[in-house]
Amino acid sequence: MQDFKGRVAFITGGASGIGYALAERAADEGMTVVIADVEQGALDQAAASLRERGAAVAAHVLDVRDEHAVEDLAGKVFEEHGAVHLLCNNAGVINSERPTWEQPIADWKWVLDVNLWGVIHGIRSFVPRMLATGEEGHVVNTASMAGLVTGRMGAAVYDASKHAVVSLSESLYRDLAIHTTRVGASVLCPGAVTTRIFQAARNRPPELRGAESNDDDAGETAFPGDAFPPSEMARQVFDAVRENRFYILAAQTEMLEWTKMGQDRMWEGRNPAVPRRLMASSAGADSSSN
Ligand SMILES: NC(=O)c1ccc[n+]([C@@H]2O[C@H](COP(=O)([O-])OP(=O)(O)OC[C@H]3O[C@@H](n4cnc5c(N)ncnc54)[C@H](O)[C@@H]3O)[C@@H](O)[C@H]2O)c1
Repeated sequence: MQDFKGRVAFITGGASGIGYALAERAADEGMTVVIADVEQGALDQAAASLRERGAAVAAHVLDVRDEHAVEDLAGKVFEEHGAVHLLCNNAGVINSERPTWEQPIADWKWVLDVNLWGVIHGIRSFVPRMLATGEEGHVVNTASMAGLVTGRMGAAVYDASKHAVVSLSESLYRDLAIHTTRVGASVLCPGAVTTRIFQAARNRPPELRGAESNDDDAGETAFPGDAFPPSEMARQVFDAVRENRFYILAAQTEMLEWTKMGQDRMWEGRNPAVPRRLMASSAGADSSSN
């Protein structure tokens, strides 16, 4: 898709961080911007800021975990705007770091429901409607570099959710390519981006909040000094959509190299890397140096 002006963008998680930056960029490109987010206050603020930028904006409270709510909203958005040309399945959350076997079921449910099922719901409700209009369009799913290779300690839940989003997006790309030349797909794999992701627990549903849950509230202090501003993600996404490029690896050089090395280890028959300082010394423990 080359032209954005006068077209419609639908962005989940649009009230904050990368989703909000995508909305700003869509507004600057002259698109009608529809943002959806579970956090009402942030959503209202985001909509007001986008309007100040001169954009035509609609904002909807939406929990992407809820299949029926996503379906209802898709119907409403197509009724009101006639089309969606850019669909960004972006809403996402992260949970606390723990050994894999200690990750609470509540964490698995919450993170997979938002990060994976949220994208599935977006695809199921919006893509058929996009195809039915016959208009040009593009789907961008937000995964992570953590969807390409694992590495952060204690991140089984988040990494599994993001690997699933990359896989799902590749399937979507292929299925769309067989059916149409009008609608494309990309997967966004950010590295470190200064957003509110480490305060994701602010939107954790009460029923999935257990005594065993110990959510981080590290804020921006958790990001490395070379973390990107969210606007850099938006720039890379719009470039990729224009070029019909599937993989958007928007990460720091060191992270790109780490990812490549992680994948090479597999092809070389080596085991996943384990930081030496954390490695158990007992016999049979995996080695980072093999
Ligand atoms: N920030 C990073 O370094 C980074 C790196 C890799 C991937 N990502 C991914 O980028 C995406 C955007 O996150 P961000 O970093 O901008 O964080 P953020 O917390 O600033 O924004 C996430 C948005 O998603 C919304 N959200 C959370 N649960 C929701 C739900 N159930 N339904 C609808 N909306 C919901 C939040 O309210 C928030 O507005 C996520 O998928 C995240 O996993 C971020």
